[in-house]
Amino acid sequence: MDKKFLVVYYSRTGTTKKIAKEIAEFLSCDFEEIFDKKDRSGIKGFMAGGRDAMRRELTEINEIQKDPMNYDIVIIGTPVWAANMAPAIRTYIARNKEKIKNVAFFCTTGGTGIEKTLIEMEVLCGKKPIATFAATASQVKKNTYQGFKEFIEKITNFAQL
Ligand SMILES: Cc1cc2nc3c(=O)[nH]c(=O)nc-3n(C[C@H](O)[C@H](O)[C@H](O)COP(=O)(O)O)c2cc1C
Repeated sequence: MDKKFLVVYYSRTGTTKKIAKEIAEFLSCDFEEIFDKKDRSGIKGFMAGGRDAMRRELTEINEIQKDPMNYDIVIIGTPVWAANMAPAIRTYIARNKEKIKNVAFFCTTGGTGIEKTLIEMEVLCGKKPIATFAATASQVKKNTYQGFKEFIEKITNFAQL
């Protein structure tokens, strides 16, 4: 398998990060964490975060280290915020979609908004994902999420085409 993968994620409280690390480990690939320069901590951060996500606002993110152009498949993960992607991931996709050749998406959630979030990501990116994966925060905590193996398989199968 000579295709190159990159896992890109934003995580406010570590749940999406745990899945991102798992994916990067399974695929032995690079990863890039996106940081939101807006303060998303505490109840104020939570409220503003939900509002920004709902309004589809962009935010200030760190300068990226890995050029997505250098990868065959970019695997993008976000927590679900107000049934949408987090603003940091919206900003990443908006800025980099032209450089992304193939995508896969994943998200973590309290339990709702999975389908809408994944569709919003697809529409913004302008590409159908090779594979998608979602888990609840509670499943991630207890390691009881399902469909992970299939998600990895779809990506590796695509990479062998
Ligand atoms: C601002 C904000 C909005 C959220 N909105 C939703 C939501 O609409 N539906 C839901 O099920 N969970 C929602 N959640 C919960 C997160 O999606 C969930 O806890 C996620 O796994 C957190 O990922 P992280 O630890 O990577 O930040 C929200 C969390 C935050 C901070």
